[in-house]
Amino acid sequence: MKKWIFSFLFGTTLFLNISAQDINLPAPDKTGGKPLMQALNERQSIRTFTKDNLTQQQLSDLLWAGWGINRADQKKRTAPSARNVQEIEVYVALPGGLYLYVAESHTLKQINNKDLRKLCGTQDFVAEAALNLVYVADLGKLGKKEGDEIKDSDLLSSYANTAFIAQNIYLYCASANLGCVIRGMVPKEQLAPEMGLRSNQRIILAQTVGVPQK
Ligand SMILES: Cc1cc2nc3c(=O)[nH]c(=O)nc-3n(C[C@H](O)[C@H](O)[C@H](O)COP(=O)(O)O)c2cc1C
Repeated sequence: MKKWIFSFLFGTTLFLNISAQDINLPAPDKTGGKPLMQALNERQSIRTFTKDNLTQQQLSDLLWAGWGINRADQKKRTAPSARNVQEIEVYVALPGGLYLYVAESHTLKQINNKDLRKLCGTQDFVAEAALNLVYVADLGKLGKKEGDEIKDSDLLSSYANTAFIAQNIYLYCASANLGCVIRGMVPKEQLAPEMGLRSNQRIILAQTVGVPQK
């Protein structure tokens, strides 16, 4: 009987932790791409996109370039972070749902199955492009508990940290012939509850990514 209860509980836990809806990204391709100086020369904001999706490899490379782990022994990443707190979380709004990028396992953990792209911004192209990245600061990592007051000044480092990730995304897009634009115009009050964010998490910026319209 004990054995049966154990295997039931263990099986349930496994089932809860490993959802069939999570996406295991292919390993990022860390070689090649355009030379850095060429990518810098081509970096720009793009606001007209086709409805095409990115391939899983492009999604993998994009997220690794933005905020992936590049020194596994130290759990450090492709972008810097003030005091190495790493409080920025990258959510990915895809047509099939909202996902959280988990850099350690290089997977996308499904948060819900809603298409939240439209809510990620106030401009029309936001809903049409392949995906939106939503940069969220988890202020729990900076000692803020749920219900604590959060002042604008508490978010200064998170804005800076996000900007580094966003620039990595810009450079990857330039290198991979994709388009993107970082955006401050985000209806945060509407989007945050749809994302299921806690009160000590704050949306910082969003970035639309897609295949540019020629
Ligand atoms: C903090 C920040 C917020 C921005 N917010 C928006 C935005 O909400 N919508 C938008 O279309 N572009 C936004 N942009 C993009 C700028 O408009 C763009 O970078 C600028 O026009 C220069 O163009 P470039 O990126 O092609 O050099 C933002 C840029 C930054 C740095």
